[in-house]
Amino acid sequence: MRKPLITGNWKMNKTITESISLIKELVDFVKGYQETEIVICPPYTSLWVTKELIQDTNILLGAQNMYFQDEGAYTGEISASMLQNIGCDYVIVGHSERREYFHESSQEVAWKVRQALSFGIKPIICVGEKLEERESGSAREVVKEEIEAIFEVLKSQDAPGVVFAYEPIWAIGTGKSATSKDANDMIQYIRNLLKEKYSEKIAEQIRILYGGSVKPENIKELMAESDIDGALVGGASLKALAFSQLVKFRE
Ligand code: PGA
Repeated sequence: MRKPLITGNWKMNKTITESISLIKELVDFVKGYQETEIVICPPYTSLWVTKELIQDTNILLGAQNMYFQDEGAYTGEISASMLQNIGCDYVIVGHSERREYFHESSQEVAWKVRQALSFGIKPIICVGEKLEERESGSAREVVKEEIEAIFEVLKSQDAPGVVFAYEPIWAIGTGKSATSKDANDMIQYIRNLLKEKYSEKIAEQIRILYGGSVKPENIKELMAESDIDGALVGGASLKALAFSQLVKFRE
């Protein structure tokens, strides 16, 4: 009932020239495949060319970030209406790299969620704990705080359209993925929070992804878990073949 979603987060990689060849390869590898929803999130500079190259394909477009204000004197920022105008279906918000290096608070992430939704862009909301938080036993508490900030802005009628991504920070880019059981446990915990806040029916509709060193070697095991609805993929999304293998995890 929840369609699997595989999202590629290119982060600060790929010039326009490099993007074009990656997208062309990817379009070819996943042509006609409908069992997974496919989203790629190139850097801002490549969004437009990506949109042109994926027109009439099964690949959707996402951005990696946006600002929560409508427009104005915010040098260097990109608005929801700009993303909407390019044709973005999704936007990643609250990625741990943004929270950590750019000091984004849970409050700002919540404002971004509200702004994206008001422009018809589906937010992919990232949450997750640091290694020391996991080791000290506070992982759930950290995730709960991040999710509860979203509850302040997310109305029940909008909830089924958003996507959450559980990304334990210690598993991102480290090659050290969470075990599929640990990932599923936290994702079930998130789904329970959604149940309590909204309803069982709504919670069952919301897709919750896992992210952190997802690769062709571990995708099957992750996707076999009861509550993992897909993956947010960094490193492995930069190679068309690897990413297409993630998309076709059932094969
Ligand atoms: P990774 O990144 O797949 O390279 O670990 C995941 C992410 O940060 O979204």
